[in-house]
Amino acid sequence: MLGAGGLLGRHIVEELAGHPVRALVRRACDISDLAQVREGTRDVDVVINCAAYTNVDGAEAEPDAAYRANALGAENAARAALESNARLLHISTDFVFDGAQADPYDEFSAPNPLSVYARSKWAGEELVARRGGSSILIRVQGLYGAGGGNFSSKLRDLLLAGKSLKLDCERRVQPTWARAAARQIVRLASSDAIGTYHVSCAGETTWAGFARVLAERLGLPQSWAEIPTRELQATAARPPNCVFQHRMLALHGFGPMPTWQVALDEYLAEAAAR
Ligand SMILES: NC(=O)c1ccc[n+]([C@@H]2O[C@H](COP(=O)([O-])OP(=O)(O)OC[C@H]3O[C@@H](n4cnc5c(N)ncnc54)[C@H](OP(=O)(O)O)[C@@H]3O)[C@@H](O)[C@H]2O)c1
Repeated sequence: MLGAGGLLGRHIVEELAGHPVRALVRRACDISDLAQVREGTRDVDVVINCAAYTNVDGAEAEPDAAYRANALGAENAARAALESNARLLHISTDFVFDGAQADPYDEFSAPNPLSVYARSKWAGEELVARRGGSSILIRVQGLYGAGGGNFSSKLRDLLLAGKSLKLDCERRVQPTWARAAARQIVRLASSDAIGTYHVSCAGETTWAGFARVLAERLGLPQSWAEIPTRELQATAARPPNCVFQHRMLALHGFGPMPTWQVALDEYLAEAAAR
């Protein structure tokens, strides 16, 4: 497991409890260093690459850092996996799409990344695919979960603290509990699947819509302003429609992903039990 210290990586490691897992955090294995990746993945059967430069706005000013982790790092993982005869599961993003189409995006929709982060992740997908081998590209989106450093992971605590927030009421997203994604990724890891898979919670909403349901479950009043995407004045462009169709999961008989509301309830139950 590369990137085992991140939000998704930690949840996958937890879901693999009982299996022998080499959980490599960044200081143990820098994905942009081929020698370290080779050493870290030596003699494993499966490599899961969750390591990435994930600061979408920061990437606009740091393209080299983004490409080193997201393109070169992805290629390093693919090379090392091939040399070890291991399967690679490489994690990518909904941001490879421009979000201009009205319908959900399936795995065969044409990418058109809008930002440096998105282009660097698309480059990683291309390099993994061109290296060949029995790799799976798994696009995820809208992740949140315990210990996550991103805004959606902090939203529960921000609402509980009564912070005044501005939330996007336009972008169509599928908020995805990291554990729900991790469970599906573990199922894919133990299958013989290859190709590209979309993994996200079912249904769709906006981040403001997610906050409404989250606040309702927590018994809190609305404490945020709902604003259109442009008023957030983010540095990097984001796709207005990020909704996935899970065509590959359906074609290959994997069960449906939980809806985002069902996953949110599970997340809140787990958070309350901690
Ligand atoms: N979060 C989302 O909503 C979302 C949406 C779409 C796609 N994804 C994709 O899902 C995957 C997992 O993301 P996440 O949400 O778990 O992000 P995350 O919490 O930021 O985790 C990424 C991890 O990668 C590590 N990392 C960064 N550069 C590295 C390098 N050069 N070598 C080794 N490790 C490095 C980071 O370490 P440091 O913290 O020390 O930098 C961090 O632990 C990524 O591929 C991301 O692009 C995430």
